[in-house]
Amino acid sequence: MLNMITTNIGLNKENANNLTISLNALLANFQVYYQNLRGLHWNIKGKSFFELHLKYEEFYTDSQIKIDLIAERILTLGGTPLHTFDEYTELSKVSVCKNITKGEDGVQLVVNSLTELLLLEREILNESAEANDEGTNAMMSDFIAEQEKTMWMLNAWLN
Ligand SMILES: [Fe+2]
Repeated sequence: MLNMITTNIGLNKENANNLTISLNALLANFQVYYQNLRGLHWNIKGKSFFELHLKYEEFYTDSQIKIDLIAERILTLGGTPLHTFDEYTELSKVSVCKNITKGEDGVQLVVNSLTELLLLEREILNESAEANDEGTNAMMSDFIAEQEKTMWMLNAWLN
């Protein structure tokens, strides 16, 4: 039953609004992560150039898909996705990187960034569970499972 306190997909409006705020923070962090990966892809030097140049491309392509999913989930929940660089850098806990050329430094940056993203996603997972928002919840579950596996591989590479 739809009414004044529910969104047009039947979620509580206040909960949905709070979720769009959290998802916009995640979006901002993903955009900084994405742009960092472009920089890593371009600037990598050394013996693992071919391996990491490709791996960073795989990561930014994957992030691009996730970024669009997050933004469109925000719209589905009745919100407006942030789309400017100033808002992204203001909200991002993922730090902006510059001119990283060493493989170890780049992979460590990816690990640190994924750690921040996972923390945000787990918060949104709890928030969406409480709001009975299965769509957002399922999206976070998928992101978390994939990124945890990536963390295992990156940590194996670093050690
Ligand atoms: Fe390229």
